[in-house]
Amino acid sequence: MPKPKVLVTKRFFSEPIAELAKHAEVDYEPTDDGLTSVALVERARGKRAVITQVTDQLGREVLTQLKGLGLIAHLGVGYDNIDLPAATENGIMVTNTPGVLDDTTADLAFALMLAAARRITEAHQFIHDGNWKRWTLDLMIGRDVHHRTLGILGMGRIGQTLARRAGGFSMRVLYHNRTRLPEQTERVLAAEWVSKERLLRESDFVSIHLPLNAETRGSVGETELRMMKPDAVLVNTARGPVVVETALVRALKEKWIAGAGLDVFEREPQLNPGLLECPNAVLTPHVGSSTVDTRMKMAMMTVDNVVAMLSGQRPPNILNPPVWDRWASRPASAE
Ligand code: DGY
Repeated sequence: MPKPKVLVTKRFFSEPIAELAKHAEVDYEPTDDGLTSVALVERARGKRAVITQVTDQLGREVLTQLKGLGLIAHLGVGYDNIDLPAATENGIMVTNTPGVLDDTTADLAFALMLAAARRITEAHQFIHDGNWKRWTLDLMIGRDVHHRTLGILGMGRIGQTLARRAGGFSMRVLYHNRTRLPEQTERVLAAEWVSKERLLRESDFVSIHLPLNAETRGSVGETELRMMKPDAVLVNTARGPVVVETALVRALKEKWIAGAGLDVFEREPQLNPGLLECPNAVLTPHVGSSTVDTRMKMAMMTVDNVVAMLSGQRPPNILNPPVWDRWASRPASAE
């Protein structure tokens, strides 16, 4: 029997590709640019599954043309690039890679906090530029992280993992989330639920861990930034469009806040030129989960979801289970 066909839309690691090839005929696009939406639709024809990454845009129009596809196995925990309701309407299962990247992403959020507060990138540049002539009392003087207040916007798995790190730095932790955590979890994390407004007003560091959706898009704008303390730092390792970048550039330039640590941007990979003019902004290129171990785990998990589906099992990380229920109950002749 011929193997089912699977499309991989852009460069992937060879080990998971080899694993996938045991179960499927792989149509692999090995470039970093990947496929345009038109090419993706074309290449997905006759495929049972497609493996996607954050740069693949799968809106309603594309998904309608993918009707008949079994699964979109997305590498990443965030899936705002995929219109999930449209995938469900078109009978396409969608999976993501939750859990395996929590520690790694929380590490980067903490690194950005430290880098912005202790001016690590400015200090590094200062030395590279040959400007270090003498030790002075206030050379690259920064702000403490320990014993200060961390406000976490969005207290899912990554937010909670960050809270645990804050304990090691004797920080006070505030959080805001639509759903409050169970009391026991709050106690273990030593985290206090507060209103968004109170979090913004009282925190020395505000770290964003919200998914991107209609409710969160632009939810940290001028009003919110003006509520923050003038010596506060904003960190975003979630999704760029949660923050209104033009407002953030003004906040950094006009010193409404002291600094920012940003791993994600409104129009990646394009940068708001204003951000590049802010020495108090530490910028990294969407690498929150980018470590050797974690990216490999994410890639393997993506393949595991495909292999499960191809072998007639429920993909472990399915985001729209009703589609699986429909698949599982369909007559064998519909294969
Ligand atoms: C994620 O997992 O959502 C990362 O941002 C990579 O897509």
